[in-house]
Amino acid sequence: MKIGIIVFSKTNNTFSVAKRLRDALADKGLEVEIEQVIPEDDAPGVKPPIVFTNKPDVSPYDVVIFASPVWAFSLAGVMAEYLEQISSLQGKRVFSFVTKQLASKITGGNKANRQIKSAVAVKDGTVEKSFIVSWKNKKREQEIEGLIAEILKAV
Ligand SMILES: Cc1cc2nc3c(=O)[nH]c(=O)nc-3n(C[C@H](O)[C@H](O)[C@H](O)COP(=O)(O)O)c2cc1C
Repeated sequence: MKIGIIVFSKTNNTFSVAKRLRDALADKGLEVEIEQVIPEDDAPGVKPPIVFTNKPDVSPYDVVIFASPVWAFSLAGVMAEYLEQISSLQGKRVFSFVTKQLASKITGGNKANRQIKSAVAVKDGTVEKSFIVSWKNKKREQEIEGLIAEILKAV
């Protein structure tokens, strides 16, 4: 079983969580890789079509974990556009997590995860579980450990 953590991260928060998840999965003896979604231009206002300098291929993975920041109360446009460009997710297990600034429920985390869910469905996949990490939340560490524990349990 091959696990791919596919992450877009502009300021390293999401990537740092992805690395912790990668280490935890690897410690369990699982085959896991992180791949970064890298656009030519990562300015928040950049309009599609977005050109990627690194556009990870999901096809080698049995389990795919998508990770992205929340931008403007939504999924970061870069990740939304990447998800439109990927190949089929049929038969793969899929998870997602997003990071955002504020702990409040109305700052876009649920919407961003819903957007990932819809984009994954278009590619014939189903998101089994999705998670939110709020960077300014006192419980951030608990949120990170919680998502790592849940994914470890699930795979
Ligand atoms: C353009 C932009 C828009 C953002 N919009 C939101 C938002 O709507 N809600 C929120 O909670 N955080 C928002 N943030 C904060 C990021 O989601 C948060 O810092 C995230 O952890 C950054 O992830 P990264 O370091 O992996 O890029 C925004 C950040 C940027 C750069």
